[in-house]
Amino acid sequence: MAKVGVVYGTNAGDTKVVAEYIAKNFDSEIINAKELTLDFLNSYDKLIFAASTHGHGDLQKDFKTKLDIIAEAEFGGKTLALVGVGGQVKHPTTFLDGLVEFLPHIRGVKLVGATDIDGYAFKNSLSFINGKFIGLAIDYKNDKDWQARADKWVESIKSEF
Ligand SMILES: Cc1cc2nc3c(=O)[nH]c(=O)nc-3n(C[C@H](O)[C@H](O)[C@H](O)COP(=O)(O)O)c2cc1C
Repeated sequence: MAKVGVVYGTNAGDTKVVAEYIAKNFDSEIINAKELTLDFLNSYDKLIFAASTHGHGDLQKDFKTKLDIIAEAEFGGKTLALVGVGGQVKHPTTFLDGLVEFLPHIRGVKLVGATDIDGYAFKNSLSFINGKFIGLAIDYKNDKDWQARADKWVESIKSEF
């Protein structure tokens, strides 16, 4: 298994907990999006981006400021999986919307790890495309079973990583 670069963007720490939980399943280097550089992205062929949604459906701010760097990276031949952390109860119309902000900037990547709704209730999500979430969906504050959800997802992507 190749080494995996894991990047997380968090306001209050929830996404850090989720990203660390996932990263320990891989031989990985994990960094905060605040520290993200082009060198880091270019160093790994296997990447996981974990980001919360804030504001009104906005990508977490530290990751948002790095979208220009992400746009510069060479993603051809790379594999990427996305993890969205959000709140379906208080934000049912923008649940995990921020995750889609990555999509225009990761041209050429092999995006893996789309998931089914699996019991999450929300009205709208920009990250729900063609009947699937574009990555792993985690409602950290409202879902006591989030770790089981993450475990299942890790198993599903392992063959790609
Ligand atoms: C001001 C505010 C706005 C939020 N807006 C959204 C939203 O639009 N969609 C969503 O899914 N979650 C939203 N959330 C929920 C957070 O994403 C959720 O609490 C998450 O666990 C925070 O993770 P973090 O501490 O890693 O940033 C919002 C939270 C706050 C405090």
